[in-house]
Amino acid sequence: MQQDIKDAVQYAWSQAWDHGEFAALRAISTQDYERVSVSSGRVLDFEEFIREIAEIRAAFPDMRTTIQRIVANEDELAIFWRTDGTFSAPLGNVPPTGTRLKTHGSNFARLRGGKIAAEEVTWDDSALLRDLGLPSLSSAFEDEPEGTHVGDVPPPREMLKAFNKQFISGVTVVTTNDADGNPRGLAVSAYSSVSLDPPLVLVCVQKTSSTYPSLFGSAHVGINILSSNQRATLDAFASKSADKFKDLEWHPGPNGSPLIDHSSASIEVEIKERFQALTHTIFIGRVQHAETTDDAPILYKAAKFYDGRGLVEL
Ligand SMILES: Cc1cc2nc3c(=O)[nH]c(=O)nc-3n(C[C@H](O)[C@H](O)[C@H](O)COP(=O)(O)O)c2cc1C
Repeated sequence: MQQDIKDAVQYAWSQAWDHGEFAALRAISTQDYERVSVSSGRVLDFEEFIREIAEIRAAFPDMRTTIQRIVANEDELAIFWRTDGTFSAPLGNVPPTGTRLKTHGSNFARLRGGKIAAEEVTWDDSALLRDLGLPSLSSAFEDEPEGTHVGDVPPPREMLKAFNKQFISGVTVVTTNDADGNPRGLAVSAYSSVSLDPPLVLVCVQKTSSTYPSLFGSAHVGINILSSNQRATLDAFASKSADKFKDLEWHPGPNGSPLIDHSSASIEVEIKERFQALTHTIFIGRVQHAETTDDAPILYKAAKFYDGRGLVEL
C-alpha cells in the first residue's frame, strides 16, 4: 500500500511538473485538496495549484523535477524534491533572464482514503530569487514611516529633490540588444562605481522604461559616459524614440553590447545582480571591457546640462 502511493506520487509529479499532464495528479488528490506554503501561508486549492504549475512550466519550459526521497506511513508522506530549469519566458511581471534555476524543498502530505488531502510545502524561496537574479530589497521598504516633517519643514520627497539639485553627475547611456538583436538604450544619470576590486558598477533603471525588459534579460550591458559633443545623443536617449540608434555611430563590445562612438568612455559589464527597489531595479555589473578617450564629459545638475570642457580646478 505504502509502495503504491509512493509510486503513484512519483508518476503524478513527473506527469504534472515535467509534462504538464494533470490527470494522474488529480487521481491521487482529494476533491478538497489544499496546498499551504509554510513560508508565506498562501493556500491553493487543486485548480489553483495546477494553474500555478502551468505558469511555472511556461516560464521554465525545460524544467525537470526529481523526487529524491519519499517517506511514508499509513496516513502521511514526506516528499523531498529538487527542480531545475531555464528561466526562458516571463513569470508574472518578471522578464526572463535565461538563468539556470536550481531549487529544492520538501512537502508534508496528509492522506485520506489513500489520496493526498493536504500538503504543507517548505522550500527556500531566497535561493530561487537569487537564481532568478532577483535578490529583493522590498522587505526593506515594508511599513516604512513617511519620515518626520514638522511645521514649515517640507516633506521628504521635496527635501530629496532639493538635495539632488545640488548633486552634479555625468550622464550615461545604458545599452543592450533586444530579443530581435536590435540595439536599445536609455539615458541614465543614476550610475556609480561600486568597488575596484572586484570591478563593480551600478545603474538604477525605472521599470517603466521601454528598454527595461531587454536590460533585465541581458547577460551583458554597455554603459557610455556622454561627452560634451553628444548633446543631441543625450536628447535621443532621454526620449521614447523607436530607433534611437538611427544615424548614430556605434560598435559592439566583445559581448555584443552597443558602445557609442565619440563617448567620453564606454564599458561593457556582465550583470551580476538585479536588486528590486520597488519602481526601479539596481543592476550591479562586473566590468569586462573599457574604452576611454580624452573627450570631456557632459555635466548634469538640477535638470540642466553643462559643458565639461575647461573646468576650473580648486
Ligand atoms: C539627464 C537624465 C538622466 C536620467 N536618468 C535616469 C536614470 O538614472 N534611470 C532611469 O531609469 N531613467 C533615467 N532617465 C530617464 C530616461 O532616460 C527616459 O525615461 C527615457 O525616455 C527612457 O526611454 P525608454 O522608455 O525608451 O527606455 C534620465 C533622463 C535624463 C534626461
